[in-house]
This record gives sequence, structure tokens and C-alpha cells, in this order.
Amino acid sequence: MTQDELKQAVARAAIDYVVDNEIIGVGTGSTANFFIDELAKIKHRIKGTVASSEATATRLRGHGIEVYDLNDVPAIAVYIDGADEIDASGAMIKGGGAALTREKIVASVSKQFVCIADGSKLVDVMGKFPLPVEVVPMAREAVARALTALGGVPKLRLQPGSQEAFVTDNGGQLLDVSGLSITDPVALEAQINQIVGVIAVGLFAARGANVCLLGMAEGVKTLK
Ligand code: A5P
Repeated sequence: MTQDELKQAVARAAIDYVVDNEIIGVGTGSTANFFIDELAKIKHRIKGTVASSEATATRLRGHGIEVYDLNDVPAIAVYIDGADEIDASGAMIKGGGAALTREKIVASVSKQFVCIADGSKLVDVMGKFPLPVEVVPMAREAVARALTALGGVPKLRLQPGSQEAFVTDNGGQLLDVSGLSITDPVALEAQINQIVGVIAVGLFAARGANVCLLGMAEGVKTLK
């Protein structure tokens, strides 16, 4: 099976976690996109969605799926999204697709977080994938120094094919931090959150996934 077929398989499996007549939180990225395409087939069953990025909102609306502003929604039944790395506890690195802050917000108000990913994302210790940190632009260098002091090697994310800084949906910039071996994700998430100028860190540990659906050659594996 190709990686895309594995992503499609978990996207299909995630439909079982969609709660009828409720608002569904929808993540960002290629796996989330496959999920959106599956959700479109059962859109009559749900009340609507909250999107974790402008790109996701556009794709949902393209399928005729209602997208609500989070401020107008009292509760989200389930949040379904991909990940860049996952450990056995359900902690994740996210933000490869630059949407970490809104993903974290939507996840934080959702009753359940269902992570969908191809099996290659499951690791023993996270950190090989550079950890994305969204920062207020004027604080970028100060935050970079603080992340270096934590043992990381921060690199400013650039717009594709350009020397200009990438700008997020929130007007933030991204530092991708390599060189970390994340043995205590909850502690590192708390430490990075304490750095003034950080908008959000792409470590989802204090609020990890409740369920991970992993696409493997032999089928979809469920981790709880
Ligand atoms: C988006 O900002 C990310 O958190 C994605 O969920 C993550 O990068 C996984 O993306 P893919 O599904 O494209 O691998």
C-alpha cells in the first residue's frame, strides 16, 4: 500500500468516530484532507464543523460542509486530525502543515481527539521531526535563544522557494526546532509554553490523542 492509501484507510476508519448531529473539529494536512473527503459523504449526518486552518475551511466549504466560527460553538464532540510524530502515550508533534495553534485550540475544546496517521508516524521517542513553535515575529530571536538553551536547534520556516519568513494564519512565524530528544513531552511542552513570545508549541502532550488510528500494511491499528 502507498502512504496515501494508508492515509485514506485511516480517514475512512475515522468516520466511525463522527458523532451524529454534532459539531466536528477538523484538522489540517494531507491525512485530514482525506478525512474531509470522507466526511463529505456523510455530511447530512452532522451539524457542521470547526476548521483548524483557512485551508481546511476552504476544503470543507468546497464540499458544501458548514464551517462555524469557534466563538459561535458551545462544544465540539470530536476533533480529528493527523500528526507528524506520535508516541505510545498518544503525545504528538504537530504543525508540519503550519496550523498548530488553531489545531491546539480546537483540540483543547473537543471532548475527544482522534489522531489519524500512517504507521510511519509512530515512534519510541519524538524529536526526529523538527518541533514547530509559532512565535510573535518581534520575539523570534529571543525565543530562538531560549529554545537553543533547551538544547534545540531552531530554524526559521521560510515561504516555499523564497527567503521570506513563512506567515501563519494568525500572523505568526514558525521556528522548526531540531536536535531534541523528547523523553518527557509533558514537561517540555510546559517549558516551551513559558517562553514569552511563544504563541503555541506543536507538542500535544498535556492534551494528547484519546485514540490513534494508524494505517499499517495489515490494516488499521487502533491505539487507545
Ligand atoms: C498540520 O499543521 C499538522 O499538524 C498536520 O496534522 C501534520 O503535519 C500531519 O500532516 P500530514 O497528514 O500531511 O502528514
